[in-house]
Amino acid sequence: MSQQRSSWKSNLGFLLAAIGSAIGLGNVWRFSYMAHQHGGGAFLVPYLVALIVAGIPIMIIEYGLGHREKGSSPLSFVRINRKFEWLGWWMPVVAMFGIMLYYSVVIGWCINYFFYAFNLTWGPDTQGFFFSQFLQLSDSAAAIGGIRIPIAAATFFVWVLCWLICYRDIRHGIEKASVVFMPILFILTVVLVIWSVSLEGARDAIFNHYLNADWSKINLFSPDQTVRSNAGRVWAGAFGQIFFTLSLGFGIMITYASYLPEKTDIGKNAFITSFVNCFYSFIAGFAVFGIVGFMAHSQGVPFEDAIKGGPQLAFVVYPQAISLLPSMNVLFGVLFFLMLVIAGLTSGISLVEAFACAITDKFDWSRSKVVTVVCLLGFSGSLIFTTNGGLYLLDIADHFITNYGLVTGGLLECFIIGWILKASLLRRHVSRRGTIIPPIWDVLVKFITPAILAYLLYLSLVGDLAENYSGYPTDQLILYGVGWMLVCLVVALALTFVPWKPEKLKRRHRPEEDELLV
Ligand code: ALA
Repeated sequence: MSQQRSSWKSNLGFLLAAIGSAIGLGNVWRFSYMAHQHGGGAFLVPYLVALIVAGIPIMIIEYGLGHREKGSSPLSFVRINRKFEWLGWWMPVVAMFGIMLYYSVVIGWCINYFFYAFNLTWGPDTQGFFFSQFLQLSDSAAAIGGIRIPIAAATFFVWVLCWLICYRDIRHGIEKASVVFMPILFILTVVLVIWSVSLEGARDAIFNHYLNADWSKINLFSPDQTVRSNAGRVWAGAFGQIFFTLSLGFGIMITYASYLPEKTDIGKNAFITSFVNCFYSFIAGFAVFGIVGFMAHSQGVPFEDAIKGGPQLAFVVYPQAISLLPSMNVLFGVLFFLMLVIAGLTSGISLVEAFACAITDKFDWSRSKVVTVVCLLGFSGSLIFTTNGGLYLLDIADHFITNYGLVTGGLLECFIIGWILKASLLRRHVSRRGTIIPPIWDVLVKFITPAILAYLLYLSLVGDLAENYSGYPTDQLILYGVGWMLVCLVVALALTFVPWKPEKLKRRHRPEEDELLV
């Protein structure tokens, strides 16, 4: 029996949920570390370009498509053209099995660290604590080892929370949770930013390492070949970051927009979501650089030696800085890890929703049953990342899924909307509901954005073929990176072959567009 589709209670509720999906673990430290590594303030240039030429145009595609077709990602794509249903599945399958399985584990680490913060359990050697005591990291990805019970337990808790929130319909589950969590997240962030920038040494780090631009790092036209190729990587990194941070290519924004009412300003929502998310990253950068600057200052070491990338920034550098604070270390630590848990959770529920909604649309099973099974499967799959070798698997899977999985999804989305559906049709659909999208959007979606994304894929491929990612052996990269993506593809294809109920595919009556087609 076909179920009545739920809808957001208010546009603000929708915006908070969409911004909650976008603002996640990636905003807090990934952005800051990339900014530092890629030329400080100069990184903001490719980041802003990526936001304008890919982020916002694809956000408009995803919102427009979900709103127009009133369906999850596979239902929206199949309604455009049956040949592309597989892409509609690829995106939420990647979100669920490619990302959420390890994302939930990282939220689990944050939960553990939230409790450790109450008595600064990590001690003076935060690096040794993280790798040897907490993760009990094995020597290589070949040695998976056993499950780490504290991590598995926290991961279980994350899935229980996702289940509790997603179990109910969108308005009573995700919307209610976002309305509670997002203001808390904003308040925590403001408190931590003000606190961090007021620390000694913070100002120097912010001005000299965050906002100070090293333009050579982004110079694609340098006569020096090495500078050019490094700059290429910086630009590729900025585009990858925009995809990940705006939750594009996951099918999430399509799904969220499918619950919007008929009358809604789609364009305005797309601009607000994109800007708030990127502004948040920019502001969070002040907290990250401020605290690392404070730590460098207290230890009398250069800033370069104090900052570290990836998970180490939150789980090694931050705990160390927290322990060094002159007062209220416990409060700072608790608030910081609480902020990470909330940021992660509001993104995690959107990753689950994209997949669960797709299954519900296709099979017409009850939402509660689907969410229960999806969360059980998700938790079981996550266990692999809670093992002693979990960090390696997570690192490899993340590299392949973000650099290839998401970017390919975005590229194909542009192609389908630009050439199969016709960009102008979707642009008119969006413009009729409020903010007018200029015709240059058609040019971006049809030519410029896909050309840039194709070039990025090429850059990533050339880089990976020239040098193994992070020095991992080739067989491990193939098994956990390429293999993981192939599994996602097989699952997406298998789901594509299940037939739809004919009433789902009936053409929806759109008088405003029929006028344009004659
Ligand atoms: N957009 C989410 C993040 O940045 C997935 O973490």
